[in-house]
Amino acid sequence: MAYEFIKTHTEDSKVGVITLDRPKFLNALNTELMIELGQALKAFDADSTIGCIVITGSEKAFAAGADISAMSKFSFSDVYGNDFITKDWEIIRQIRKPVIAAVSGFALGGGCELAMMCDFIIAADNAKFGQPEIKLGIIPGAGGTQRLPRAVGKSKAMDMVLTARMMDAKEAELAGLVSRVVALDQLMSETIAAAMTICSYPQLAVFAAKESVQRAFEGSLSDGMMYERRLFHALFATQDQKEGMQAFLDKRPAKFENK
Ligand code: CAA
Repeated sequence: MAYEFIKTHTEDSKVGVITLDRPKFLNALNTELMIELGQALKAFDADSTIGCIVITGSEKAFAAGADISAMSKFSFSDVYGNDFITKDWEIIRQIRKPVIAAVSGFALGGGCELAMMCDFIIAADNAKFGQPEIKLGIIPGAGGTQRLPRAVGKSKAMDMVLTARMMDAKEAELAGLVSRVVALDQLMSETIAAAMTICSYPQLAVFAAKESVQRAFEGSLSDGMMYERRLFHALFATQDQKEGMQAFLDKRPAKFENK
């Protein structure tokens, strides 16, 4: 299948690799990209020769977040009415085969959230994670306020979400956000090796293992996600969201008015 914003290939006809490919915009996640990602995930999940899936980006960016240029024009009725994020971003939750995020460079906002939607994260030593949405007058809207505290604990999650600071790969490993950190030039070989190991195990046990760990992690996630999504949508009714996103696009400091 021909895609515009992602590339796909297989390793040894066993591992499906999806590479996010919007380099000019640091793989900013627009709706079209997320639709393609969902299609590729479903295709690999349905392919009986594939045992494990890897999502990766470029050396500079796994993904720098949801596409601010597209979002800056959205109103509350746009995001709430179209259930922005939900229908195109959550296909990954339906995938039964393990999905590994191989992260180098920036994984910010929706990029960090996409990495956290994967079953585990292997990070290159140049990886940087963050939830900087507050600078745009919004909050994380793809599960960040729910998955980040589960991964790194409340204090660090609050620090990240409220100050918008980035976490480097070493801190992310210490905090439990990523399972291992490897040299940048080893990222894909280490990740493919991990994926191949998973492919060598019986698939029904792999499915059962993934489902069981998910149950431990996801209790009451749906309630948390719904709460987060409604607040995320509501922030598109504020003037500060318009100002925060326009200021980013104009490359100037934002002037917030608490409206
Ligand atoms: N959306 C749209 N475009 C983006 C983008 C984004 N999230 N992130 C980067 N870009 C674009 C830039 O606008 C720039 O485009 P131009 O060349 O046309 O100006 C290009 O990608 C390269 O970016 P920079 O010049 O900014 O690169 P840098 O190396 O100086 O900085 C960065 C890198 C720190 C990641 C910076 O780009 C940045 O802060 N990006 C925004 C990060 C962010 O706020 N993410 C959260 C988005 S909101 C969200 O994700 C909501 C949610 O929860 C679902």
